Amino acid sequence: MPRIPPTARKGLLTLHLVTSLGWLGADLVLLTLGIAVQRGADPAVLYPVGALVGTVLFAPLSVLVWLIGVASALLTPWGLLRYRWVVVKLVLTTVMVGLVLFLLTPNLRHAGAVGAALPARDRADLVIAPAVSTSLMIIATVLSTYKPWGRRSAAQPALAGRARNR
Ligand code: HEM
Repeated sequence: MPRIPPTARKGLLTLHLVTSLGWLGADLVLLTLGIAVQRGADPAVLYPVGALVGTVLFAPLSVLVWLIGVASALLTPWGLLRYRWVVVKLVLTTVMVGLVLFLLTPNLRHAGAVGAALPARDRADLVIAPAVSTSLMIIATVLSTYKPWGRRSAAQPALAGRARNR
C-alpha cells in the first residue's frame, strides 16, 4: 500500500478523530434518550428524536468511521493487520457497524414509529445497546492512545516507533 505524505496523514487522522469521536458522541446522545424514557420522559417525543439521530447521524457515521479507520491503517506504516491494537479495533468496529446497521437502527426507527406503545423489554434494549456500544468505543479509544501488545509477527520490532512518528 502507498504511504501518504505527513500533511495528508495529519488530515486523514483529523478526519478519523472527528468521525470516530463524533460517533461516540452520537452514541451517548442515544444512551441519554433511552435512559430519559426509562426515567419517565415522554417516549412519543424522545423516540422519534432517537430514530432521527440513528438514521441521519449514527448509522452513516458508523460506515464512515469504518472506511476512514481502514484507510488510516492502510495508508500509514501501522498497516491493517500488522499490530494487535489495530486488528482488535478493526474487529470491534466491524462488529459494531453490523449491529448498528442491522439491529440498532431498525429498532430505533420502529421505536420512533410506535412511540409510547413500545413494550418494556424493547425499551430496555434501547438503553442496553448504546451502553454496550459506548463501552466498546471507549475501549477502541483507549487502544488507540496506548497502542498495546506490539506487532503480530516478531519481525521488524523497531517499526512501532517509526509508525508513530511518520
Ligand atoms: C476500522 C476501525 C479502525 C481502524 C482500522 C483504526 C485504525 C487507526 C490507526 C491506524 C490509527 C493511527 C493513525 C496515524 O497514526 O496516523 C488510529 C488512530 C486513532 N483512532 Fe482509530 N481505527 C479504527 C476505529 C476507531 C474507533 C472506533 C475509534 C474511537 C471511537 C478510534 C479512535 C482513534 C483515535 C483516538 C486515534 C488517535 C490515536 C493517536 O494519535 O495516538 N478509531 N486508528
